[in-house]
Amino acid sequence: MKAKELKKKYLDFFKQHGHKLIPSASLIPVNDSSVLFNTAGMQPLVPFLIGQKHPQGKRLTNVQKCLRTVDFENIGDDTHHTFFQMLGNWSLGDYFKKESITWSFEFLTDKKWLNLPIDKLAFTVYQGDKVVPKDEESAEIWRSLGVSKDRIAYLGKDNFWSAGEKGPCGPSTEIFYWKSKSKAPKVFDANDNNWVEIWNNVFMIYNRKEDETLEPLKQKNVDTGMGYERTLAALTGEQSAYETDLFLPSIKKIEELSKKTYASEKKNMRIIADHLRAAVFLLGDQSGIVPSNVDQGYVLRRLIRKAIRLGKLIEIGGCFTVQIAEIVVKEYKSSYPELHQNYVKILSELEKEEHKFNYTLEQGLKEFDKIAAQSKIISGKEAFLLFQSYGFPLEMTQELAAEKNIKVDAVGFKKEFEHHQELSRVGAEQKFKGGLSDASAETTKLHTATHILNEALRKVLKKDIKQRGSNITAERLRFDFNFDHKLTDEEIKKVETEVNQIIKLKLNIKREEMPLHQALKSGAQAEFGAKYPEKVSVYSIGDYSKEICMGPHVQNTSELGKFKITKEEAVAAGIRRIKAVLE
Ligand code: ALA
Repeated sequence: MKAKELKKKYLDFFKQHGHKLIPSASLIPVNDSSVLFNTAGMQPLVPFLIGQKHPQGKRLTNVQKCLRTVDFENIGDDTHHTFFQMLGNWSLGDYFKKESITWSFEFLTDKKWLNLPIDKLAFTVYQGDKVVPKDEESAEIWRSLGVSKDRIAYLGKDNFWSAGEKGPCGPSTEIFYWKSKSKAPKVFDANDNNWVEIWNNVFMIYNRKEDETLEPLKQKNVDTGMGYERTLAALTGEQSAYETDLFLPSIKKIEELSKKTYASEKKNMRIIADHLRAAVFLLGDQSGIVPSNVDQGYVLRRLIRKAIRLGKLIEIGGCFTVQIAEIVVKEYKSSYPELHQNYVKILSELEKEEHKFNYTLEQGLKEFDKIAAQSKIISGKEAFLLFQSYGFPLEMTQELAAEKNIKVDAVGFKKEFEHHQELSRVGAEQKFKGGLSDASAETTKLHTATHILNEALRKVLKKDIKQRGSNITAERLRFDFNFDHKLTDEEIKKVETEVNQIIKLKLNIKREEMPLHQALKSGAQAEFGAKYPEKVSVYSIGDYSKEICMGPHVQNTSELGKFKITKEEAVAAGIRRIKAVLE
């Protein structure tokens, strides 16, 4: 089976069952700073899982771009990827276990769809705990479809799913496929690696609160995720997705450039292909990420630099990342037109980063060898020197050190880093841990303030200002927009006064649903370059502002308090950034 065929079949199947196809959201969560990346298809849908109405209805399906940093160490194995695609279908308070399980079974086994032999499938369900009951209902549904008892296992925490420590969650039933050519054993064994988990159906009926207790959600949801890469590998009988048409063209190019075979350099070639594919998707994402030393930009930098280091290790001469990127864009642009739109940026940023790093890599490796020869532990200061002078991300120093069986003082490094960059270590670590869309009272207020600011900038500064990015934490809002000069103190004051006047007018916030073209015609603001579904929700603040947006927002501007701009700076040529707070 070809990659595209699996995707098409999945979406066709769920469309036939009344699901609306929604576009993949950006890799970077919008208005949610608790995580760096979308790690599952449900993440952009959190507001709708907790009760907000989705403009496309209660049954949705899509292929979501995802990126997980927790799996970095596993990259190169058969089943993990930094960037991956998740096929998903959702019930937002509509159908529940019976339909979800029955449809999954039909899609997998029916001749018209994947036509998999039932003998190669196994299923797990939640064994229950003190609070959540054992999921006998799901097991019973699988049984009623003809699944043998031996192929249904009751498991613990693997069958209770949430994206982070708080937010929507629930018991799940997972579907496993026997990937080996040998006959599948009669009884399922979760520890046998030939059973690959391909699909997870989560029955999202709880919300985990701040104090870690569970409360029932307003509605019973189904959230499913099928790992596209690993399912394709299983279905084609390949060992991993690297041997399918998702990666083969890149792997072939790496073989050609290094004059080595995949068989002899499997792990390094897999990592290079994985990391550069992720880098292309990050650089090509609608959010405008570039390599940097913080947040998403840092992850991007790590990916590119590791690919370059491994490229050197397998003796690829000269700059090569662009050549791989060209292949990735060619293979994926029909599904992800943003890669085509950002083609020049993808190639030029990669080229810049590779030039910069090539320049220091060799020197840095010499310096590393010198430091490593002297002691059994690399101090924070030394690791920081490698970072600052030679561009070695901490993780690269750690990997090199591990090869020599020595340690790195990571805490010391972070202290040095904070000292130099004023980066909050706690903040950074929390982001890497993963979490959920934070619709707290603070972020909701700041979100509404962002809409007022967006309009105020047009009123006070220039009519053609457009949003170019937004990021909200519980402490502050951050807003990027096109403008040609640094704001004067007077301009900043004027913008603040304008926003505060609107707040004082006690305007109501109204939400409406309408087709996208009607929203645009009515003058609703849309973010530059963002992709929207055919039906959207539009938020109006009195008659002052109107924006296409997913929410959530406060009900009245009087809830906001006093607005204050704390910083104004440039982020790129012609793009300014404002940070502001509510006091
Ligand atoms: N959200 C669930 C997962 O990622 C389906 O496994």
